[in-house]
Amino acid sequence: MDKKILIEKAKQASLNAYAPYSGFKVGAALLTKSGKIFTGCNVENSSYSLTNCAERTAVFKAISEGEKEFSEIVIYVNSNKLFTPCGACRQVLSEFSPEMKITIISNKKTLEIGLAELLPHNFSLKNI
Ligand code: THU
Repeated sequence: MDKKILIEKAKQASLNAYAPYSGFKVGAALLTKSGKIFTGCNVENSSYSLTNCAERTAVFKAISEGEKEFSEIVIYVNSNKLFTPCGACRQVLSEFSPEMKITIISNKKTLEIGLAELLPHNFSLKNI
């Protein structure tokens, strides 16, 4: 999969972000091991804690369509600074693909990093 396609999809998804409270619009493009792309944006709420991040929106869309294995996710924020995914999203991604690759894009910088490096010692009930 061409990384440029994932970047473009993440940017497009950020345009749909519902972020009237923070003004912080995030887009994500999640690539499954089967080669499909699921996009997501953050969805805020008047009751702030109900907000869903872009990454989890993409994961939940994929899971609901029967996809459970991910190879990478590209996350875009319209900023010059880089923002790494929140802890909740790291944990949710690690439930399905703890070894996946994460690419964080801003308008000036890019960071490629493994999820295992962003979330070492993830919580898992898979081996009990
Ligand atoms: N947000 C994401 O979409 N992804 C993250 O990894 C961190 C934060 C969203 C949630 C909220 O709508 C806004 O960014 C500010 O926290």
